[in-house]
Amino acid sequence: MVLTERYRSLFPITETRAYLFAGGLAPAAIPVKAALDGWSDRWMFDPAYHRARYFDEWELLKARLAAVLGADPGEVAIVDNTSRGSNLAVQMIEPPPGANIVTDPTSHPSAVWPWLLPGRRPVEVRSAPGGPSSTRMAEIERLVDENTIAVLVSHVAPRTGFRHDLRKLAELTRSCGGYLIVDAAQSAGAVPIDAMDAGVDFISGTLMKWLLGPPGLGYLYARREHIESLTPPHVGYVGAYRDGGPDAPGELSYHPGAGRHEIGLADLPGIAAARRGLDIILEAGIRDIERHVLELTGQMIDGLAERGIHVLTPASPTERGGVVSFHFDGAVPLCRYLRRLGVDVWGYPEDDRVRADPHLYNTPGDVDRLLDGIDAYRRARGGY
Ligand SMILES: Cc1ncc(COP(=O)(O)O)c(C=O)c1O
Repeated sequence: MVLTERYRSLFPITETRAYLFAGGLAPAAIPVKAALDGWSDRWMFDPAYHRARYFDEWELLKARLAAVLGADPGEVAIVDNTSRGSNLAVQMIEPPPGANIVTDPTSHPSAVWPWLLPGRRPVEVRSAPGGPSSTRMAEIERLVDENTIAVLVSHVAPRTGFRHDLRKLAELTRSCGGYLIVDAAQSAGAVPIDAMDAGVDFISGTLMKWLLGPPGLGYLYARREHIESLTPPHVGYVGAYRDGGPDAPGELSYHPGAGRHEIGLADLPGIAAARRGLDIILEAGIRDIERHVLELTGQMIDGLAERGIHVLTPASPTERGGVVSFHFDGAVPLCRYLRRLGVDVWGYPEDDRVRADPHLYNTPGDVDRLLDGIDAYRRARGGY
């Protein structure tokens, strides 16, 4: 647990709470909050300083995002959230008549709903049936055919914690001539991603979860070959220009790179803060973070299984990341109880499911607090 010893002190929440919900909203680290505070302080007396630094800050953030995603900075655009990134990717793709898209039911619908927008040519939505996660790839393979325009998955699924194999999915979509569109909201920052090398076409995600930034910022990765060949659905003065000036007649041109998707000024204080979150991730190293969260999620899965609790997350370390999901009768009251004990996890009432997502600042002791808390809740309820 060398990682935690170094990084726990950057997260004051760890002094009192076992915070196990990085996949919801990560806690502010000291340098992240300091960047936000520093931005506001300066804004009061010298806003021109911030305005002048805006594009530099933007580039610094993109360079770090590219490092996390295994991409070139020119393939990354900063947007406002995962859903925006997915919308941009999907809206650039014109489905031919009879096209289908393939997804799986544990993935977030961020990249599925944009296909259903009124006015777009309808596509057939094929969803791989549920079942053991180890057969998920075979199920997706079965649904993909020559009319598949895109495969859409959450790299790490928010409902089950299942981790897809992006390389295999990219091979599959290449073989049918479709696009692989990945939602990395629950994976980037917790497990390695090598977008370019794996052959992923688009990735969208958020900065506020595993990347330790503030809410209100996301990203879109677009594979180099798609940046020039597909037309952005939005346009603005940041990503586009007109020869001869904004009012000159003639065609619009886009700046090179995925930055063409950035249409106007974004969240300046957020950008300054998010960079510090990414610095923590990159300094800790994603391979070490992955090792760390896999140890903690493994400990959690074992402990839950010993208690007879139905865990939805696969036991195999190659099939999971930082998200653990389990069924519990009365998930919401359990989470309320745990919160009073200083343990933060999240309960979903619709299917009595609990999510617990440890990150680099958590320890085995935090996982023990969760497991002990569940024992105490069961004893207090007297039914176990
Ligand atoms: C996998 C996944 N995708 C997308 C989202 C939504 O993200 P955003 O609010 O950035 O659009 C979430 C939210 O938790 C998520 O878990």
